[in-house]
Amino acid sequence: MNTQKDWKIKMRVLVTGGAGYIGSHTCVELLNVGHEVFVVDNLCNGHEAALERVRGITNRELQFTNADIRDANALDNIFNTFKPEAVIHFAGLKAVGESVANPLKYYEVNVGGSISLLSAMSKAECNNIVFSSSATVYGKPKYLPYDEEHPTNPVNPYGRTKLMIENIIHDWTKVDLKRKGTVLRYFNPVGAHESGQIGEEPIGIPNNLMPYIAQVADGRREHLNIFGNDYETADGTGARDYIHVIDLALAHIGTLNQNKLDRFEVLNIGAGKSTTVLELVSKFEEISGVPIKSKYLPRRDGDLAAFWANPSKASEKMSWKPERNIKKICEDTWRWHKLNSTGYEGE
Ligand code: NAD
Ligand code: UFG
Repeated sequence: MNTQKDWKIKMRVLVTGGAGYIGSHTCVELLNVGHEVFVVDNLCNGHEAALERVRGITNRELQFTNADIRDANALDNIFNTFKPEAVIHFAGLKAVGESVANPLKYYEVNVGGSISLLSAMSKAECNNIVFSSSATVYGKPKYLPYDEEHPTNPVNPYGRTKLMIENIIHDWTKVDLKRKGTVLRYFNPVGAHESGQIGEEPIGIPNNLMPYIAQVADGRREHLNIFGNDYETADGTGARDYIHVIDLALAHIGTLNQNKLDRFEVLNIGAGKSTTVLELVSKFEEISGVPIKSKYLPRRDGDLAAFWANPSKASEKMSWKPERNIKKICEDTWRWHKLNSTGYEGE
């Protein structure tokens, strides 16, 4: 694990989408180990207040430009002035349902945005990119846990944009031996920074389980809808691999200077075990002391019963391993919600 003590090489890192959920936590860890950070984000789903809080948590400065990654001039300006040595690329849209309803928007923003970013990197001879991909690229499991060799067959436009971008990055690295691309396939990121200062703040009704549970606990939602109780899992509810956002953030730090990584590398980032909806609800009730009202609904369209990661490749190649369990995930999520009942609103 990379800690402040053993981290030697400091880099200038451009973080696209750094004002978002995973990006803001990664900025904290980048600053904690001494990297210089520049964030580009168009704030379509991010919060400038989160960046101010990142500065507060770390007591370090970070630069920010409000721009779209499809704006070539804005990117050129950043590359010419900040001269990043690496890019961590979070910026993109991530709502599966919206991607089905409006696929062109997803191809335009996610794929178009990534091409625009890689073009700017090529021009500036910035040769190192780390990309936020998703376990959703695997599709219906042929076996579990998923390892990186598992066939890919994403079942919605969002997932297809992720796989396309992975392939584009792979092709981009083949052009020049100096180029390096690391694809991180996240499983289910949850939790918050333990200060309670930054966390996940979905706009509107949460699509994902953890923020929904937390909003029932803090009184913003009346009850949780549990989608399906007839899956072939321990208790019939869906099972996922929940990974603490700080463990995920630390995986990005690990990618930057690892000489064990190939020039193009794909790594699963998950905890390596699955937790059902009912198990997560029960742990959250225990930590918060609040009963979570719930109702069973039919299965959600497109949902898989269960999946989890084999994260051993990331452990071998980066000396990375997840250290925060479900209890810690619930504690940190609950602290964030208690301290920020209206999220970043009002700032
Ligand atoms: P998020 O929406 O909180 O963060 C994304 C950030 O990118 C936001 O701040 C948004 O304003 C910004 N952005 C979007 N389009 C942009 C554009 N064209 N130009 C500039 N900025 C733009 O999402 P997150 O949960 O932090 O996810 C980060 C990345 O990780 C995404 O690429 C997402 O697809 C991927 N991912 C997320 C999950 C998850 O469950 N959260 C799982 C797997 C992969
Ligand atoms: N669930 C409920 N009620 C809810 C929300 C979710 O019962 O209100 C259940 C789901 O049916 C599923 C589990 O909780 O069994 C987890 O659902 P999430 O929506 O939190 O997560 P998903 O695994 O469906 O999807 C997430 C992201 C995807 C990403 C995937 C893998 O939303 O974009 O993780 O990384 F691709």
